[in-house]
Amino acid sequence: MTLLELRDLAVTYRGETGDVPAVRGVSLGLEAGEALGVAGESGSGKSTLAMSLLRLLPRNASVSGEILLDGEDVLTMSWGRLRAVRWASASLVFQGAQHALNPVRRIGDQIAEPLRVHGMATGAEARRRVTELLEQVGLPAWRARGYPHELSGGQRQRVMIAMALACSPRLIVADEPTTALDVMIQAQVLSLIRSLIAEHGIGLIMISHDLSVLASTCDRLAVMYAGRVVESGPSREVFTGGRHPYSRALAEAFPTVGDPASRMAPKGLGGDPPDPAHLPTGCSFHPRCPVSLVSCASEPVELRVAGDGTGAPHTAACVHVSEESR
Ligand SMILES: Nc1ncnc2c1ncn2[C@@H]1O[C@H](COP(=O)(O)OP(=O)(O)O)[C@@H](O)[C@H]1O
Ligand code: SF4
Ligand SMILES: [Mg+2]
Repeated sequence: MTLLELRDLAVTYRGETGDVPAVRGVSLGLEAGEALGVAGESGSGKSTLAMSLLRLLPRNASVSGEILLDGEDVLTMSWGRLRAVRWASASLVFQGAQHALNPVRRIGDQIAEPLRVHGMATGAEARRRVTELLEQVGLPAWRARGYPHELSGGQRQRVMIAMALACSPRLIVADEPTTALDVMIQAQVLSLIRSLIAEHGIGLIMISHDLSVLASTCDRLAVMYAGRVVESGPSREVFTGGRHPYSRALAEAFPTVGDPASRMAPKGLGGDPPDPAHLPTGCSFHPRCPVSLVSCASEPVELRVAGDGTGAPHTAACVHVSEESR
């Protein structure tokens, strides 16, 4: 069975000044042991998507569609069931999560917390598990007795990953897990995440604005623009041979993993992403698109088959991708 399946997922924030459709009709699947990268500029709806998976959205968000985790819809689960699912089946590592650690509690106690809450281990058994988890993320056992301020940013992010792994989840959702780290540390944390998911057969959804980070870590990529998936397919195909002009612009903007120069000034991406409260008509990308046609301003484009139809599925939402090309 597919580990995670999103069917026509939509999230709208209700605001005093109107509705913000942040995620619009996203359908995606993830198998156990597979890593899916979700890319897109700031405001494209990535974090909203991540939060919706565990029903962590604020109250003003309304959600429709289906989020099937092992075939069970997260959106209709009881609160009790949802509590059990959080951490134990799926867990979240979010951007700047390192700052979410409690400064006055020992690291070992914080890693043991999800084990205790879910009744998975206490006392000496929990301490053994904490040691094992610290080792898995490349930290010595004695760190358990220390406090977060004694750690570097990269080490704190490793602690967050240890916490996410604590209850042996089947799915980890990592929202910009390395964005706040410097390049060297970013590469180390990415290779750690990669080896952990391969070893444990965990499904990973990794979110970043940096396409090269995702291409180096994930099997498949989904590129989001204005709340929609505009291209999805095998990482290499999307990164080096993107069929949607936006994917190509993102690949050009972030050519090398963690390159600080491209982080500061992404090349090839003119203009700003649209405000979801005032989306352009037709293809949302048309005001920035270098190859737009007149029809793009009025006619929306659905995802079309973009690969040759023989390999893994590859789709893109652009008029230049014709179904006949397969
Ligand atoms: N709590 C909220 N209330 C209203 N709008 C929100 C809220 N959170 C996010 N948004 C809006 O939803 C859109 C998508 O945001 P987000 O999911 O954070 O994108 P990303 O993670 O790709 O940067 C943005 O326009 C953002 O302003
Ligand atoms: S549909 Fe038109 S505007 Fe949209 S990406 Fe393709 S060419 Fe550009
Ligand atoms: Mg975000």
